[in-house]
Amino acid sequence: TALVEHTFVVSQMKMTHLCKETLVTVVNGQLPGPTIEVTEGDSVAVHVVNKSPHNITIHWHGVKQRMNCWNDGVPMVTQCPIQPNQNFTYRFNVAGQEGTLWWHAHVSCLRATLHGAIVIRPRLGASSYPFPKPDREVPIIIGDWWSMDLAEVDRKMKDNFFDYFPSASTINGKLGDLFNCSGVAEDGYVLDVEPGKTYLLRIINTGLFSEFFLKIAGHRFTVVGSDANYVSPYTTDLIVIAPGETVDALVVADEPPGNYYMVAMPNQAPLPDTQTPEPSTRGIVRYKNNKDHIVGGGSTGDVPVAPVMPDQHDVVLSLYFHSNLTSLKHQRYPPPPVPTQVDEHMFVTLGLGTICRRGQTCNKKMINETILVATMNNVSFQLPTTTPLLEAHYHHTGVEDTLLELPDNPPRVFNFTDVSLIPIGPKERLLDTTSRATLARWFQYGSVVEIVFQGTAILQGDSNPMHLHGHDMFVLAQGIGNFDATKDVERYNLVNPPLKNTVVVPNLGWVAIRFVTNNPGVWYFHCHYEFHLSMGMTAVFIVEDGPTVDTSLPPPPMDFPSCSRNVMPDKY
Ligand code: C2O
Repeated sequence: TALVEHTFVVSQMKMTHLCKETLVTVVNGQLPGPTIEVTEGDSVAVHVVNKSPHNITIHWHGVKQRMNCWNDGVPMVTQCPIQPNQNFTYRFNVAGQEGTLWWHAHVSCLRATLHGAIVIRPRLGASSYPFPKPDREVPIIIGDWWSMDLAEVDRKMKDNFFDYFPSASTINGKLGDLFNCSGVAEDGYVLDVEPGKTYLLRIINTGLFSEFFLKIAGHRFTVVGSDANYVSPYTTDLIVIAPGETVDALVVADEPPGNYYMVAMPNQAPLPDTQTPEPSTRGIVRYKNNKDHIVGGGSTGDVPVAPVMPDQHDVVLSLYFHSNLTSLKHQRYPPPPVPTQVDEHMFVTLGLGTICRRGQTCNKKMINETILVATMNNVSFQLPTTTPLLEAHYHHTGVEDTLLELPDNPPRVFNFTDVSLIPIGPKERLLDTTSRATLARWFQYGSVVEIVFQGTAILQGDSNPMHLHGHDMFVLAQGIGNFDATKDVERYNLVNPPLKNTVVVPNLGWVAIRFVTNNPGVWYFHCHYEFHLSMGMTAVFIVEDGPTVDTSLPPPPMDFPSCSRNVMPDKY
C-alpha cells in the first residue's frame, strides 16, 4: 500500500456563467476539485492550505475513518475549522472500501463549489472488479451552479430569508446547452465513447438542494455499486441519486454511432412550497468517428438524440430505484451479516418547526418573533461555539452535560404523512413544542442500533437523504406512508440489504436501517439536503470507547487547529 499525497489550496476565483461573473471558493482553481485516486488500503494525506477568507473544513464523505474521528472534518463537531491563512493536513486510510466516495467542504453552502471525487480501486487491479472490466472510468459529478455568493445564501437560510435559488444544474461543472448567455449556449459535458466499449460512470450528487434523475438517450445503465459498496447488478435506464449519494454504473456504447444527450434533472423544488426545481442540465455522449461534430456543447448539424425524462415530480421513482438495490455477495468483501439482535430501537421523525428568534420566550403567534427550523424528533440542532464536541468528549470537559439526548421517539404522535394535517400558521400546536439544542445520542461500543426514519407531512415534497459519518448502514426496508411496525418489520431484508452511508427517506415515507457502533468518536448525522442541514436536521452520535486499546480513540493529531482565535462557526 502507498501513501497518496495531495495539496489542496483553497482560494477564491472568479467564474462567469449565464453572463454573470461570480466569486467562488474552490480547491486548486478547479471546479469540480481534484479527484483523489487511490488503491484500497492506501493511506492519504491532504495538505489543506486555506487562502480563502472563510473558515474551512474538508469532510471525506463515506470514508469510514476507523479510530480516526479526528480527521472527519466537521467544524465544531470533530475539529475547529482551518482559519484563513492556516494549514492543516488530513490523514486517513481507505482500507476495506472500494468504489466511489467524495470529499467536500463541511461549511454549509460552500460545498457547492468545494468538492471532488474519491475513487478507490481494488488492490488486484481493474480485472478484479466483480463486474465486466470497464474500458474507461469517468467521474460524473452532478451539482448546482449559483450566480450568488454562497456565504450570503447561507446567512439568508439561517435568517429565514428564502429568496435564493441555484441558477443551473451542472455535470462535471458544465451547465450545458439548455442554459445560455445572450443566446450563446453554455458548454456542456462531453463524454467521448468508442463503439462497443464499456464505461464505468462514477456518479456523485454534490448538489445542495435536490435529488436528480439521470438518463442517457438510448442507453441503459447497469448499477454495480453505491456509496463504495458493491451491489448486485441492476439494469435500468434511469438513475435516481440524492445529495450525498454515489452510484457506480456501467454503460456500454452499443447504440448506432451518433450523439446522445445525457440529462440530469432535479426532481425536488429547492425551497418548500415552490413547485419549480432548477432546470435540467445536459451533456452529450459522443461516439468516435461520428461525422457530425459537436462544438462546445452546441450542435453543428446533427441534433443529438434526447432521452424521454420522467415527470419532474414523480418522487416514487426514487423509492423504486433505491428499493432495487441489494448488496453483492463478493468474495473479497463479503458484506457483513446483518445483526439480528438489536440493542437500541429508535423512531426518528424528520420535520420542521418554529422556535423563538431571540431568547427563550416569544409570542409564537407573531411570525416575526419566530424562526423556521428543521428537526429530528422535533428538536433542532445547534452547534457548540467554543469547543468542538469531539475534543470535549475526549478530554471529559463536562460539556456533555449541556447536550440534549435525542429521544427514542418524537414527543407527540400524530398522523405523520397525512397531508391534511400540515400545520398552517404558527398557532398550530405541533410547531409550538419545537426546541433547539445540541442534540446527541450516546452508544456503547459495539451496539446494534435500529432506526426508523419517518418523513412527515410538514416536509411535503422533500425526500431526506440521511447521512451518517463513520459508519455504513444496512437499509432494511423503505415505504410510502406511515411506518407500521405490525406489518413493515416483516418486509425487512435481513439477507442482502445494501450498505449505504446516505439513506434516502422517501417523500412522505419511511426507511428502516441498522448499524453497528464499532467506531468510537463523535459522528455527525444529518440530512444532506442543505436547507435541512443548515436549519438543524442534525444530531451527533457519540460512540464510547471499547474495552481495548484497539477499540479506543487515539489522541488528536499534534497540529490540530485550535479555536483560540475568535472562531465563530456560524460565520465565515
Ligand atoms: Cu457529505 Cu456531513 O456530509
